[in-house]
Amino acid sequence: MKKIIIDCDPGHDDALALVMAVAAPDLDILAVTTSAGNQTPDKTLNNAMRMLTLLKQRNIPVAGGNKKPLMQDLIVAENVHGETGLDGAVLPDPDFMPAKIPAVQLIAETLSSAAEPVTLVVTGPMTNIALFLQIYPQLKIKIAQIVFMGGAMNTGNYTPSSEFNIAVDPESAKIVINSGLPLIMAGLNLTHQAQIYQEEIENIRKIDNEVAHSTAGQLDFYGIYYGQDKWGFKGIPLHDPCTIAWLQHPEYFEGADYHVDVEVAGTLTRGETVVDRFNLLNLPKNVHVLTTVQRQKFIQLLTDAIASF
Ligand code: RIB
Ligand code: CA
Repeated sequence: MKKIIIDCDPGHDDALALVMAVAAPDLDILAVTTSAGNQTPDKTLNNAMRMLTLLKQRNIPVAGGNKKPLMQDLIVAENVHGETGLDGAVLPDPDFMPAKIPAVQLIAETLSSAAEPVTLVVTGPMTNIALFLQIYPQLKIKIAQIVFMGGAMNTGNYTPSSEFNIAVDPESAKIVINSGLPLIMAGLNLTHQAQIYQEEIENIRKIDNEVAHSTAGQLDFYGIYYGQDKWGFKGIPLHDPCTIAWLQHPEYFEGADYHVDVEVAGTLTRGETVVDRFNLLNLPKNVHVLTTVQRQKFIQLLTDAIASF
């Protein structure tokens, strides 16, 4: 069993990552923490609580995180995820309370009590993780690796050169990416391959359980944004679930080690993950960047996870 902590900003694709992680027989979720990004901190926390209630996981401790990015005002993605942050989903109200401590403290307490180093899965802006590393540097040794959805090579989805999770809090991303910890990056170059097609959504809708009904509704709403012509997609990219799929089946993916850093000063490029593909700077290759995914196997993994409830 691989022990993990998930820091997320639910968000439709974060919600699907939670579904996959709960269903995964070889993953043990020690804690869930939430960040502000897709929606405001209170909404992403409530969405995580609602998802874990739907998944009948009221024993997993949950804590809300920082109220805003380190240096800039919060930007949210209501245009993508809706007013609640999880529009289109039939979800129960939470049937348990979040922890009364902040995310960084829940991460610290969870890592302190873990017998072995723990994997951090980060699917939103990196504010909580950066703060954690600054407040508890002595606990870095209890982090096995950080698997994160964020960044891109030479593209973006928030600006032409920045991906949303990094764009929300570039300073935090810079701290994490320069932490020296083992990093696995699921950036847009990968996650735009991880699209679910309409016929595959219909297969999920045919699954007769509460999770499938909720997931189908979530995907219907989430698909409105990605159905815009500007994307040129056949389906809907499932960004965050790529992190969980990699943990379960790394053989579905290819990747390479590159030097990566984050631009925080650029006028046009603030929030860019600068990937040194040709090793021009001859700097340490600090990030394993995922580059391809076997899409059909990925979708089958998600579908099987949903059907397992
Ligand atoms: O750019 C996509 C990322 O931003 C995903 O994690 C999505 O949930 C949003 O947080
Ligand atoms: Ca997310």
